[in-house]
Amino acid sequence: MSFKNLKIFAFLCFPMFFFVLIDAQVPIPPKLDGFWYENRPFEADSIFIEAFFDPVCPDSRDSWPGLKQALQHYGSRVTLLVHTFPLPYHDNAFVSSRALHIINKLNASATYGLLEAFFQHQEKFYGVATFNMSRANVNEQIVNFVTKAVGTSHYSAVRSGFTNSKTDRATRIAFKYGCTRGVYGTPIFFVNGIALPYKDSPLDYKGWKGIIDPLLANQVERTGEPIHFF
Ligand SMILES: *[C@@H]1O[C@H](CO)[C@@H](O)[C@H](O)[C@H]1NC(C)=O
Ligand SMILES: *[C@@H]1O[C@H](CO)[C@@H](O)[C@H](O)[C@H]1NC(C)=O
Repeated sequence: MSFKNLKIFAFLCFPMFFFVLIDAQVPIPPKLDGFWYENRPFEADSIFIEAFFDPVCPDSRDSWPGLKQALQHYGSRVTLLVHTFPLPYHDNAFVSSRALHIINKLNASATYGLLEAFFQHQEKFYGVATFNMSRANVNEQIVNFVTKAVGTSHYSAVRSGFTNSKTDRATRIAFKYGCTRGVYGTPIFFVNGIALPYKDSPLDYKGWKGIIDPLLANQVERTGEPIHFF
């Protein structure tokens, strides 16, 4: 392409490029996406873990016990924020992620209980198990499953949650948020904003201790000594 053509090319394409950029802007949610463990938001001194989970992903399920044990061990020194990240190759990932957003609005304290229920019974919602069911059937099965997990008094609220565009939007924003962080699978963890390297076997309690203990030790050191920049 000659210089002159390049100029024309730039003239033609840049406004379009600009338009695309604006169009592709992820909507800014009214508050940070995700579910705080024990409804405990981040405090400046705590170790901040973000987990991207797909409720019907076996690897997400297998990574939860080790992380939960670590959370129980460290208490308020560690904060967890779980984001849903429905993988396109898991048939019911979006609808089960949406269920979590619905419950989080109805009763935030019930969110992790429902996540654990999905982990425990996720085979019911695998692609093969629901292959011959209509979408309406799957939806109904998820409404019943969620209601069972959070209490029958919530049946109609859960049901109408699936036709409320706000819960659809919240689930989409969670997904887009993951994309902007470079998430490409589940489970993916960030500790104090930094992505942990992907491992083939799930990170267990010992693995989490190996990551968190040095950070806590470093915090103690830091308060006594001047900070050395490198
Ligand atoms: C909210 O969920 C928690 C945990 O499951 C439960 O103990 C509590 O009773 C629920 N509150 C309401 C109003 O349903
Ligand atoms: C779906 O239904 C068809 C016809 O009844 C049956 O042959 C097939 O095995 C079913 N597939 C699954 C995955 O259950």
